[in-house]
Amino acid sequence: MLFPRSLLLSVAALAGVTAAQGVSTYVNPAVPTGTPLPGNYTGPLRSQVHYSPPTGFMNDPNGMFYLNGVFHLYYQYNPTGLGAGNQHWGHATSKDGYTWENQPIALFPPEERVYVFSGSAVVDVNNTSGFFPDQDNGVVAVFTLARYYEDGSSGPQTQAIAYSHDEGYTFQYYDGNPVINSTSTQFRDPKVIRYGDQWVMVVAYSQEFVVAVYTSPDLKQWTWASNFTDHGLLGAQYECPNLVKMPVRDRDGAVVDEKYVITISLQPGAPLGGSVTQYFIGDFNGTHFTTLDAATRLTDFAKDNYAAQFFYGVEGNPINLGWASNWQYAGQVPTGNNEGWRSAMTLPRVNYLTKTAPRIGWTIVDEIYDPKPIMGESLKTATDMGNGSITVDYADVESNALYIEANVTGLDVAKATTFSTLNLTFTSPASGESLRSGFYFGGDNPFFVDRGQLRGFDNVFFTDKFSVADVYYDSNAPGQKPASWSMKAVIDRSMYEVFVGGGRHAGTVLLYPTQPLTVVNVAARDLPAGARVSVAVWALESTWAGQADEQGTVLGNVTTATTTTTSGKAMGS
Ligand SMILES: *[C@@H]1O[C@H](CO)[C@@H](O)[C@H](O)[C@H]1NC(C)=O
Ligand SMILES: *[C@@H]1O[C@H](CO)[C@@H](O)[C@H](O)[C@H]1NC(C)=O
Ligand SMILES: *[C@@H]1O[C@H](CO)[C@@H](O)[C@H](O)[C@H]1NC(C)=O
Ligand SMILES: *[C@@H]1O[C@H](CO)[C@@H](O)[C@H](O)[C@H]1NC(C)=O
Ligand SMILES: *[C@@H]1O[C@H](CO)[C@@H](O)[C@H](O)[C@H]1NC(C)=O
Ligand SMILES: *[C@@H]1O[C@H](CO)[C@@H](O)[C@H](O)[C@H]1NC(C)=O
Ligand SMILES: *[C@@H]1O[C@H](CO)[C@@H](O)[C@H](O)[C@H]1NC(C)=O
Ligand SMILES: *[C@@H]1O[C@H](CO)[C@@H](O)[C@H](O)[C@H]1NC(C)=O
Ligand SMILES: *[C@@H]1O[C@H](CO)[C@@H](O)[C@H](O)[C@H]1NC(C)=O
Ligand SMILES: *[C@@H]1O[C@H](CO)[C@@H](O)[C@H](O)[C@H]1NC(C)=O
Repeated sequence: MLFPRSLLLSVAALAGVTAAQGVSTYVNPAVPTGTPLPGNYTGPLRSQVHYSPPTGFMNDPNGMFYLNGVFHLYYQYNPTGLGAGNQHWGHATSKDGYTWENQPIALFPPEERVYVFSGSAVVDVNNTSGFFPDQDNGVVAVFTLARYYEDGSSGPQTQAIAYSHDEGYTFQYYDGNPVINSTSTQFRDPKVIRYGDQWVMVVAYSQEFVVAVYTSPDLKQWTWASNFTDHGLLGAQYECPNLVKMPVRDRDGAVVDEKYVITISLQPGAPLGGSVTQYFIGDFNGTHFTTLDAATRLTDFAKDNYAAQFFYGVEGNPINLGWASNWQYAGQVPTGNNEGWRSAMTLPRVNYLTKTAPRIGWTIVDEIYDPKPIMGESLKTATDMGNGSITVDYADVESNALYIEANVTGLDVAKATTFSTLNLTFTSPASGESLRSGFYFGGDNPFFVDRGQLRGFDNVFFTDKFSVADVYYDSNAPGQKPASWSMKAVIDRSMYEVFVGGGRHAGTVLLYPTQPLTVVNVAARDLPAGARVSVAVWALESTWAGQADEQGTVLGNVTTATTTTTSGKAMGS
């Protein structure tokens, strides 16, 4: 990530000057060590089934790994402000992928004005690094250190490592940092994977539009191997590259091959404005990535999913989650002034590659991770709704969050008209605001989302309508056989995520109503005879309510309060 200079200056000015007692970290007096920051997760815009930080500003997911049944999520964190700056690595853990427990901040700036930018983490089971004499669960974080000077100007960005003997709860900086030195002010966001008997890093030379590949036997000595340069959309810079192996599945879900994918987040300059993530499918041989075709593909059809990372240590289908925001307005959204926090992560998503006919070809399937752990009461099911509609008043659902599925089968596309539609609309009876979405079954078969009927946030960059075309679930060519459509959606107060066509298209949409949305309506019209519509609506259980104390405060994992901190020395608070 890169934040505007003006923000950095204001935060630096506010940060104070007292260095803590640690040898190798700079601790701003306003930031607690060894204990998580407390959070108030009750605000009407605060998402209930998504991760968001206890307080302050969050951006890119970092260091994601899965070990011994626990997902670890670190994130770019400004604990002292509501905009980017003063970057630390916040930390949260989850056993089910949804219920996140706040942990103490994992990485503090090693020096004043040297910030811990984005990066990744690996489990060094074979002690290749030599940090872990007696264990097979050592964790090494690999990240960018970004130096700034007193006048706010940028110094070099270098790649550094830190290691953890306790499965990622506390880290120590390696005393041989940087592991990749540089004079560039725009060199960041290393993501490391295991390939054969080597470690492989992809890292961005952001403003040269290069994703460089480095290899290492031990996570300390890195050798440049190749450059993947000027691919796809450039925008104004490349950030947060990932290299990930994915199974290729056929229509029936069987694994028929495997390929590698490079994702590149670019910002600013996305087609819809601001930030977006693109990807390339191809082969990787340990040093070089070669694309399968010349296409540029995007991971999301809306505007609020950036810098996604794939968990290290997940077998089979990879799992990713992204930062659910956009730099065009991340620092302005109303959750800041109203509720003291800004930005949530997307839900976790399961990925594989497949070919989607009739026209789309290769795509990443980005399907919601099994939501069973958060599913509440079933509020409504309709198995053959026809041209009808159902309405569910969910004002009594405490989380104000829902999971919804809708399937349409047996629809003869040749007989569909421009009026053949299925809509999912959420409204606030109190304010009259609505969030609309739906399928058009005629023509190009778009799916749309419209957040333009909400009034809680006015910003010229907060584009309000999104759509994607050709949203068939299966590969039946139109006119030949009845096609089918499906969608899964989660609405979570200020977030809407839709997975269309079995995850062949995903849309992540922030929304800011002035009053909570509490009624959902699903309606179809002009469906050709034979079309069957099934719909199910469930309440979701808040993942935060159960963690709150009597005052409504989520304290997180406070059992660590007296243990070590990032510097390896107890610092107290
Ligand atoms: C938590 O936030 C809610 C809504 O923003 C507010 O009404 C409440 O007073 C806050 N609770 C505490 C303990 O600050
Ligand atoms: C660890 O070493 C074993 C035995 O040499 C090897 O099979 C395995 O792939 C290694 N794993 C990693 C992650 O390096
Ligand atoms: C781990 O690496 C260190 C440093 O090379 C070494 O002293 C130690 O014996 C190694 N332990 C194992 C189990 O390989
Ligand atoms: C990194 O590069 C800078 C600039 O060339 C240099 O001053 C510094 O000594 C280098 N650091 C190391 C550890 O090599
Ligand atoms: C790889 O890209 C970096 C950053 O632009 C550049 O400095 C380096 O010369 C490139 N290497 C080659 C061999 O092109
Ligand atoms: C990987 O691909 C590059 C470029 O095609 C090639 O130069 C290199 O020899 C290949 N390496 C291996 C191990 O096949
Ligand atoms: C769905 O919404 C679109 C756009 O507002 C509208 O044209 C269409 O008639 C709606 N369909 C249904 C079934 O309400
Ligand atoms: C929807 O209504 C149209 C006429 O308005 C009718 O022809 C069609 O059979 C109905 N579709 C379904 C699925 O009931
Ligand atoms: C939609 O279709 C999927 C896949 O066949 C199925 O698992 C799910 O239960 C269906 N949902 C509804 C509401 O019919
Ligand atoms: C709390 O943190 C400690 C490490 O300090 C860790 O061992 C423990 O598993 C954590 N507990 C939870 C519930 O995350």
